[in-house]
Amino acid sequence: MNLTAHRGLSSLAPENTLSAFNMAIDYGCQWIEIDVQLTRDFVPVVIHDQTVDRCTNGTGRVADLSWHELRLLDAGSWFDEEFAGEHIPSLAETLSLVKDAGVSLNIELKTYPEDDIELLCERVAQIVTESEIDPNQLLFSSFSSEALTSIAQYLPNVRRGQLWQEIPTNLEVVLQEVGAYSVHCDYRFLTQEQAKHIKSIGYKLFCYTANVPEQVNAHWQWGVDMMITDMPQRYTNATVSERA
Ligand code: G3P
Ligand code: MG
Repeated sequence: MNLTAHRGLSSLAPENTLSAFNMAIDYGCQWIEIDVQLTRDFVPVVIHDQTVDRCTNGTGRVADLSWHELRLLDAGSWFDEEFAGEHIPSLAETLSLVKDAGVSLNIELKTYPEDDIELLCERVAQIVTESEIDPNQLLFSSFSSEALTSIAQYLPNVRRGQLWQEIPTNLEVVLQEVGAYSVHCDYRFLTQEQAKHIKSIGYKLFCYTANVPEQVNAHWQWGVDMMITDMPQRYTNATVSERA
């Protein structure tokens, strides 16, 4: 059973932090998903929302804060006092962690309106290259086809997955344009017919964010290759260690 820890093991530790990634690794998860954006001074950092408001003790847009300003924030206390002092990680330190652990990383290129997509991809590619991580340990995904096309110019050897909530009718055109390896979609909207079609034309199929294993029993039968979940610990027969 293939499981990706969504934003790390985000049901047991604050999402998109090193604690969440380490916990996912300790649980035996082979894949971790993260969200990446640029700071004001163009440092790729790991955070989901457009602002730091929900997941730190600060306020403001990620794109308006410098790396130094972001680094001073507490990204753990909102989840539990046990995680007080946790930082927003850089992409560089996240890559270092997964490289050493030998697990794989799904880097979601997170784009919000007015973001400079080209610059995001250029900076992410630079950090990935500097990390000297094995490209086979990586998979880029994005709701933005433009971001996937852009990152392909820099790192053609890293696989790309197109994110959709609902799969559009022109899927084949988009998947060819971005040179996709995989389709990532919301399990709630996926139909058996769509799943079979995607598999028949040769793409991997990932579903997010499946936190109740019973709700996706059929999806595995339809050929879904990967469940992206906040709760890998709920799955039995999963790729988890004895500590799970
Ligand atoms: O990559 C799957 C999932 O992370 C996409 O949605 O909003 O959780 O980043 P979101
Ligand atoms: Mg994501």
